Amino acid sequence: MVTREGKVLIYLPEPRGLVSGGRLEPAWMPVFYNPAMEFNRDLSVLVLSSYASLYAPKRPFTVAEPLAATGVRCIRYALESEGVGRVYCGDVDREAYELIEKNVALNGIWHKVSFARRDANALLSDLKGKGVPVLAVDIDPYGSPVPFLDSAINLVGNGGLLMVTATDTAVLEGSKRSKALRRYGCKLQKIPQSKEVAARVLLGYIARAAARYDKWIRPLLSLYVDYYVRVFVLVGRSSSRSLRMVEEELGMLRICKNSLAHFEECEEKDSIGPLWRGDLFDLPLLQDLLARARAQVYLSSQQRIIEILELAREEARLQRFVHQRTDAISSALKARTPKLEEVIGRLREKGYDATPTLFSPTGFRSNAPLSEILSSFLP
Ligand SMILES: C[S@@+](CC[C@H](N)C(=O)[O-])C[C@H]1O[C@@H](n2cnc3c(N)ncnc32)[C@H](O)[C@@H]1O
Repeated sequence: MVTREGKVLIYLPEPRGLVSGGRLEPAWMPVFYNPAMEFNRDLSVLVLSSYASLYAPKRPFTVAEPLAATGVRCIRYALESEGVGRVYCGDVDREAYELIEKNVALNGIWHKVSFARRDANALLSDLKGKGVPVLAVDIDPYGSPVPFLDSAINLVGNGGLLMVTATDTAVLEGSKRSKALRRYGCKLQKIPQSKEVAARVLLGYIARAAARYDKWIRPLLSLYVDYYVRVFVLVGRSSSRSLRMVEEELGMLRICKNSLAHFEECEEKDSIGPLWRGDLFDLPLLQDLLARARAQVYLSSQQRIIEILELAREEARLQRFVHQRTDAISSALKARTPKLEEVIGRLREKGYDATPTLFSPTGFRSNAPLSEILSSFLP
């Protein structure tokens, strides 16, 4: 079976009758292809182009995607993103490897996509060992990216781009506390802001991994959508900047009374972390991405991408303030839950700034002191 995604054609794995209640279960396929991840791939194709035009120290550049399944992402980067000279595509699974080969042939992209049946860490270390300059690495595994992050960070060149998906959200959000401590080195508990916490746990982990290689990171775009976290970060080499990052951009998040959370102020009940407390979004990148997204009518998730980027652009100005949730605060105060717009309006009337957030439909960010936030919930 062949399907079209973006500008490429893809042979899909044979479902072999693995259908549950009439619905195809992606995880049961011999080779993984998840149509629900098309949004993730559409967005990543655009981010890579924006990175190429704003931040790439040279072009054309090389990309590595060592957990490629059907190869759809690699082929899309090669065909649709700007600035991409070559893509190294790998998967440890034999059937995946064979499918990548068929898909590279189907799209006539032999000259730009190299592929291998290799373990992801072996492929990345090999590229590093051979001195192949790789500027962008995409880690898109099942579950946690942790087993692959060291070799990805070690490989990515100065000024490069690291793209990471994590689907182990129960761990990142603090529902599985002992696993969070072992896997991410974080003391966590589930709080109303857990989706933002998940992104900040992953970024914090990536930052500490980068520091081990005298590298720093700068997040360009950090999302929690559907059931996964996706982050795009710039990576650079400088031991002094790396040290500054560890000293200034990592910290504990205070859990305050009435379901509030804050990096600085509050009479704390407890704290979680260490988390990334720095920026989540890069405004110039968001502007460039939005312009690209509006122009790319062929992308099937175009509308959703635009909506998410518009939200991100708005909240970016308050990104250093963790979001709060209207429903959680009202329930702590045993008060009626006001509409999100009402709370934002009241805070703005008092002279503070406030915006919605993509991390929660009932969430908002504000630079108001917590006492002012609370008083805007009381009659
Ligand atoms: C979530 S799928 C990748 C989806 C793909 N990136 C996409 O956008 O369609 C994860 C893939 O990683 C492969 N994989 C798992 N462990 C691996 C390892 N240690 N090295 C290389 N590939 C691995 C699996 O065979 C599977 O195809």
